[in-house]
Amino acid sequence: MSQSIPELFPAFRIHAADGFQGAAVEHISLDQLSPGNVVIAVEYSSVNFKDALAGSGKGKILRVAELNGGIDLAGTVVASEHADFLTGQKVLANGSGLSEVHDGGYSHYARLPAEWLVPLPEALDTRSAMILGTAGFTAALAVQRLLDNHQQIEQGPIVITGASGGVGSFAVQLLAQLGFEVVAMTRKQEHHDYLYALGAQAVQHSDELKKDARPMLKGQWGGAIDNLGGDALASLSKKVKPWGNIVSVGMAAGVELNTSTMPFILRGVSILGVTSAACPHALRKNIWQRLGNDWLPQKLEAVCAAEIGLEGLPEAFDALLKGQVQGRQLVRVKA
Ligand SMILES: NC(=O)c1ccc[n+]([C@@H]2O[C@H](COP(=O)([O-])OP(=O)(O)OC[C@H]3O[C@@H](n4cnc5c(N)ncnc54)[C@H](OP(=O)(O)O)[C@@H]3O)[C@@H](O)[C@H]2O)c1
Repeated sequence: MSQSIPELFPAFRIHAADGFQGAAVEHISLDQLSPGNVVIAVEYSSVNFKDALAGSGKGKILRVAELNGGIDLAGTVVASEHADFLTGQKVLANGSGLSEVHDGGYSHYARLPAEWLVPLPEALDTRSAMILGTAGFTAALAVQRLLDNHQQIEQGPIVITGASGGVGSFAVQLLAQLGFEVVAMTRKQEHHDYLYALGAQAVQHSDELKKDARPMLKGQWGGAIDNLGGDALASLSKKVKPWGNIVSVGMAAGVELNTSTMPFILRGVSILGVTSAACPHALRKNIWQRLGNDWLPQKLEAVCAAEIGLEGLPEAFDALLKGQVQGRQLVRVKA
């Protein structure tokens, strides 16, 4: 079924049988790829928090012995056994078990079940789709969750934590574009100008959300999108005004949540979950269509901090995990 696929091609492969054994660019064959009915020549991928954990061995992400890393990919179909996808068509995939149970996007070729693929929205090319990647997709999913739970502009500003990161950068932009007042939270002064340029109306230090044992605090914000978890999420739950929504996206600062029931019972506050990995396919397609249409971020390039090749991945993981990246790192797999 293949069309001009070389016998061997480069892939960034992670070995994790009995714990992390290492990860590097290797040359593999099509037969080694996880099964699927569509083969894609990958053009771009990206570096997400989960990719950095998987590829550095700092987190246990792989649930099989070895895989190509990369939870995101965009490219061109080169072989298809499914009527919905034709050779030459541009597609993308994100989450869906990539780099967890199935070979991911850090490879010149990927083979996926058609059910995981999304036709590339018209307004996006493979590069812009991967500047967005899982981070942009998740930010949009989080915004959708807020709106679905009736968040109104009139309820007050929305706080975005971990604002200079991938999800944060797009959440700030998207909410600002939709007319919400955005308060971006970051640990670093050097990110302030960037966050104002993306549309934040105020930038505050993440220390605003320090641990506080009191069961409820003065209501300050209309809602929040939280990338940190732990004390920050607990503090947000106590400081959001009545009927506000908080979307819990990430755990960059902690996985635990120690709060009180009072904000939920006395203020009607909601904490909403979101998961890009196991998002229902119809919703995934819908969110990507919006990102390629009325939710297209107007400052996409501003978020692209660097464009790297497969060889640059270990350094990129390290920088991300040390909190040194403003925005997103794009991976040029095969231009
Ligand atoms: N639920 C889902 O489906 C989903 C999807 C994608 C990502 N995520 C999760 O969401 C989070 C953000 O992802 P991302 O791709 O945006 O990661 P990222 O680019 O690394 O951004 C995370 C940001 O959080 C802040 N931060 C990092 N470590 C911190 C710490 N110890 N204390 C306080 N702030 C810290 C930093 O922002 P400042 O420098 O501005 O403070 C950093 O830029 C991660 O936990 C990721 O695993 C979840």
